This record gives sequence, structure tokens and C-alpha cells, in this order.
Amino acid sequence: MAEEAILGYLAKNEEIGDSGEFASKHGLNHDEVVNVIKSLHGFRYVEAQDIKRESWVLTNEGKLYADTGSPEAQLFLAIPPEGGIPREELQIKLGPLLFKIGCAQAAKNRWVDMGGQQVTRRVQHVDDRVKDLLLKIKEGQVVDQDDIKALKARKLIVPQTWNGYSLKKGPDYAPQRKKFAADLTREMLQSGDWKNVEFKEYNFNAKGQPIEAGHLHPLNKVRHQLRMIFLQMGFEEMPTDRYVESSFWNFDALFQPQQHPARDSHDTFYLKVPSTTKELPEDYVERVKCVHESGGYGSRGYEYDWSREEANKNLLRTHTTAVSARMLYNLAQDTLKKPFTPKRYFSIDRVFRNEAVDRTHLAEFHQIEGLICDRGLTLGDLIGVLHDFFSRLGMSKLRFKPAYNPYTEPSMEIFSYHEGFGKWVEVGNSGMFRPEMLLPMGLPEDVRVIAWGLSLERPTMIMYGYNNIRDLFGHKVDLGLIKTNPICRLGL
Ligand code: PHE
Repeated sequence: MAEEAILGYLAKNEEIGDSGEFASKHGLNHDEVVNVIKSLHGFRYVEAQDIKRESWVLTNEGKLYADTGSPEAQLFLAIPPEGGIPREELQIKLGPLLFKIGCAQAAKNRWVDMGGQQVTRRVQHVDDRVKDLLLKIKEGQVVDQDDIKALKARKLIVPQTWNGYSLKKGPDYAPQRKKFAADLTREMLQSGDWKNVEFKEYNFNAKGQPIEAGHLHPLNKVRHQLRMIFLQMGFEEMPTDRYVESSFWNFDALFQPQQHPARDSHDTFYLKVPSTTKELPEDYVERVKCVHESGGYGSRGYEYDWSREEANKNLLRTHTTAVSARMLYNLAQDTLKKPFTPKRYFSIDRVFRNEAVDRTHLAEFHQIEGLICDRGLTLGDLIGVLHDFFSRLGMSKLRFKPAYNPYTEPSMEIFSYHEGFGKWVEVGNSGMFRPEMLLPMGLPEDVRVIAWGLSLERPTMIMYGYNNIRDLFGHKVDLGLIKTNPICRLGL
């Protein structure tokens, strides 16, 4: 609107002398006109010269008197024409402030007689000039300089600078703004139009649009980095798509006795439907039963009656070592057909434990597990590979503490020195799988498996500064935080 009016006017006229007058003549809002002028000036359609004008605006007090009349006029009207009014009564009628101002001004104007106790009118009629002047100024009319001075002294008006422009055609004037092409299109190239089109210049100062996109959860980001570390170290990922597992693979295959407390329903979630597994490799089950009951391979076993029913029970896997057991069993099966080949395997996935939830524990979390399977491996190899692995996570000071797992011997808890916390923190668990686990599977006798595990949540919480696991995982997670989380890198 304003743009058309300005460019159209300049097509027929030399100049626009005053943007304020132009705006009111064309029924336009002056602020809008000013914005258009700035834009047209930027593109050199017009030349603009600043105009500054002092104008006057009413103060709050000025506005009040413009509505209700000046205090002196109010005072005059409050005095009865005949006989006057006692001072006190007049003061109560007007209020102390209006009374004070009104008295002073009315006396100066010689409108009233303040002598003695009684206030009386000195004239029959008064004109409220102050109110009239205020109304004139409000409407933007010109007022005499002496009157301005007087109103300003009474703080009924204050100056305000008015900014406007005078305009002339600019060097790139056109009666209509040219449309610039923002993109070079396939059609322009085909038709040859690109030769005639004027392209919009790049605005290198423009801010990019915020991108509304999907955001990866911190656990996903850290999992990705860990996966990369394992892949760089030559590990293959194991298939972990099996939350429901049989007790057999989760415990029995790992030489975990059936009376072990971890197998209690207070620690493990068992399934009601389907409550048992249908298929287990029977000859292998037989060997596992034997090793539990009476040992073999140089072991005494646990010397108890092993129950097939117990092994058949379905559960939510309590550790990803169940996956490792299946993989090692498959690897052993392969050696029936072809020579044994060493393997490096890893997994990162969810496990479940029947735990009371608190700020560091959830009933479901993620485990990271790595294992190497080769002939003649030693505890020294395990310590070496742990140093390699953990230093890639930024933990190069490690300590090991003897520990116990039913399926590893020896076993070691892994501690890392945390510079920020200034202390040693437990970062994982490790060991060499027992012969009672590996030999029933059918792996060659000199094959050893070194393995370690840790949670995904722990390093993620440390890196992202979470101190309550429920802020990281579960129904209390703040989605906004996932969008605004910083980029964190393991090992930096
Ligand atoms: N399965 C163990 C746990 O749940 C971790 C582990 C993996 C320990 C491999 C030793 C070897 O804590």
C-alpha cells in the first residue's frame, strides 16, 4: 500500500516534501511509511533526507486537564456566583492538590478574591484557555510560543522529536519494485530466461532458519560412538534382537547354578505367557546338565540335581552375556565343519532386572559387552585389550580388582580414575569365560574367551552431566532436553 503510493507519487511528481504530511494525506500510518522508505532507500529506489521536528505531547496531568478542565477553571466554577464559599469548604470540594494549584493560577488571573475566610468570584465568566490550548496541542495544531512556554513550565506538555523524511527519486528508481529471482531453476536454463532475470544478492548476514528435525537421544549418540570404537578395533556386532530369553541361555549355559540368587524372581523378570521355551539344542543341554551336576573337563561341578523345567523358564534377559553364549555355541558348531577362526564380538543393547528404581537404578538399562575368542589368550591379553578399549573412551588410568562371576575365572572389576570427581569409579566387569562354559559348547580345548561388560547409561550420565538416571531414560525424560543437549564426544 504505502510502497505503491510512494513510488506512484514520485512517477508524477518531483518530490515528497514531508513523509508525515504525505502519510496523513494518503491515510497511511507514518511508521509504516517510514519502514517502506528505509527499504526503498536501501535498494536505491529513492533518495531520502531526514526531517526532524520538535512537537509537543501532553503529560498525564496535561491529558487530565484536557478532559476535565484546568484546576483554575474548576476552582472558579466551584465558587457560587453570589456570596462565595469558605476556604475550607472549597478545599474539601476540590481536594487539596487541585485546590492548591487552582488558587495560585486563579489568583494570578485575577479571577477570584482570596481575601479573608471567604473566597469569591471577581469576574462573572472565565474562558478555560489552558484546556483549549491542551486540546489544540493534542490534535497537532500550531500553538503560540509563549503559550508553549507556559504549559511547559506547568509540566502539562513535554517535547517530542518527530522523525520523517523528504524524498526524491533515487538512481535505481522504478515505478514498481523489480522482482528478483532467488533461485536459478531448471526452467530458466531450458528457456534461456536466466539471461534476462536479475538475481537477488546473497545476504550473508541473514540468520539461518532454525531446523525442526528429529533429535537423537543421548543414549543413541553414545551407543553410536561405542559401536564405532568396537568396529575400529575389529569387532563384529552380535544380533541382540531377543529381549525374551530362556533361563537356559541366560544362566545355565553360563554355568550359573540353578540356586544362584540372581535367578530369584526378586531379581529376574519371568514371563507368564509363554512361560517356557520350546526349543533347546538337546545334546548340548545334556552336556550342560552334566557339567552342573558332576562337572567334567577337570571340574567337580556343583553336585546338585539339575532341573530341565528350571532351564526352560522364559525371562527377560538379565545381561547380554546370554547373547554371547549363543554366539559362542554357534561358533563351536561351525568348528564341526571347518577349522576354528578367532573372533571379536560386541553387543550394545537392553537388559532387564527386577530392581527397585532409584536415581542410579532402573529396571531396564543397556549393556555394552565385548569378547575375544582365540587360542591361548591370557589374563594379560584381557588387561591389554581393556586398556586399549577404555583409553578410547578417555579413561587411560585403570585399576583391576578381583571379583566373582559364575561364568568367569579369573574375574576383575574395572576401575577408572575420574579426574573431575577426583576418585576411582567402577566402570565395568570382566573375566575369562570358564572351561565349564566353553568346553560343553564344543570349542577346541585351547580356545580362551576374554570378555568384559559395562552399562551404557553410566558413561552417558557422566558425559552429559545427568545425576538422576530417570532424567535420561523412562517416562520422566524431558524431550526438550534431548533437542538442546550439547554434542558430547567420548574420549575428548
Ligand atoms: N554379564 C556381566 C554383568 O552383567 C558383565 C560381564 C560380561 C562380566 C562379560 C564378565 C564378562 O555385569
